[in-house]
Amino acid sequence: MSLAMDQNRLVDGLRARDIPFSAIPLIDLAGLAAPGGRARIAAEIGRACRDVGFLYIVNHGVPQALRDAAFAEAARFFALPLERKMALHIRRSPAHRGYFPLFEENTDPALTADLKEGFDLARDLPADHPDVLAGLPLHGPNVWPADLPGFRETIEAYYAAMMRLADTLMATFAVSLDLPEGYFRPMLDQAMGALRLLRYPPQDGSVTARTLGCGAHTDYGCLTILAQDANGGLQVQNAAGDWVAAPPVPGAFVINLGDQMARWTNGVFAATPHRVINLSGRERYSIPFFFEPNFHAVISCLETCRTPDHPPRFADVVAGDYLVSRFNDTFAYRAAEPPVVYRAAEPPGVYGEADPSGAAPAFAPTRAGA
Ligand SMILES: [Fe+2]
Repeated sequence: MSLAMDQNRLVDGLRARDIPFSAIPLIDLAGLAAPGGRARIAAEIGRACRDVGFLYIVNHGVPQALRDAAFAEAARFFALPLERKMALHIRRSPAHRGYFPLFEENTDPALTADLKEGFDLARDLPADHPDVLAGLPLHGPNVWPADLPGFRETIEAYYAAMMRLADTLMATFAVSLDLPEGYFRPMLDQAMGALRLLRYPPQDGSVTARTLGCGAHTDYGCLTILAQDANGGLQVQNAAGDWVAAPPVPGAFVINLGDQMARWTNGVFAATPHRVINLSGRERYSIPFFFEPNFHAVISCLETCRTPDHPPRFADVVAGDYLVSRFNDTFAYRAAEPPVVYRAAEPPGVYGEADPSGAAPAFAPTRAGA
């Protein structure tokens, strides 16, 4: 078979089935504050989390104007000359913040190179914060382009809106899991929410499985709040292994669950594989927000998700360890990082401190680009 024929075959294989978006549930959050509203909506969300692992939400309280402004700022940033973006390269940040160019992140590293560029920020901590001074991985200040007035203010406002929405969703998850509404909050008071601006160049008809906008993967944290533009390209894998299109719905966010929530719920909530192929012929922009618990939070099977017939499937894991290991696997600049040894639990404040036994620390603080 010639290469061209092989590529054509793959193009067909990579195209999502044309299934109406109702295959992914759409849930209206408008009634959350009404009497009985939270229980009713939690039940709907819980069903979507169990059966699909993806859902759309509308009436979420995030102003459309703020969302539009964030997309406009993303477009301004990516339109900068490459050398100005490269000055903010993510490897220069000890806390995994800044710009990454095409093919820097490979979400399915065994198979694909990702045709996307991005800009990462997260919980913004000053350099003299105790966790930063202690070298806690992924903790530190954000970086910002100096020559884009208004960029930082808009993106920070959007980040704050995402944190508030994530708190609402986590409370709803708790209710849907027969837990008190505030169950997760003690593990979220220093949550590692991460915001990412992404630009996907258009891919033409010769798409192969080795180059996708974003290779097949599950997300790493608790939940993802995705804003996508009107160009489409997101595909979600259903239980039968079919790739289902998740087309844009005006004003809606796409919500999906990550590995940590699947582990927390013993697999009751699904971390569903997804990928991006931009066949629109236009630039695709998206803004995912990844909500992860406190670095030291221990992800341990919830009591309501285990029975004698359904014992815990996953070992306990420290949230931050899991996250760092996934970044090391998928970012080219972190390829030389030492492997992460998962700890079941560790008290705060041990990072960077000598072990009195003289043993090597279970996990070396990240100092990429230092
Ligand atoms: Fe993802």
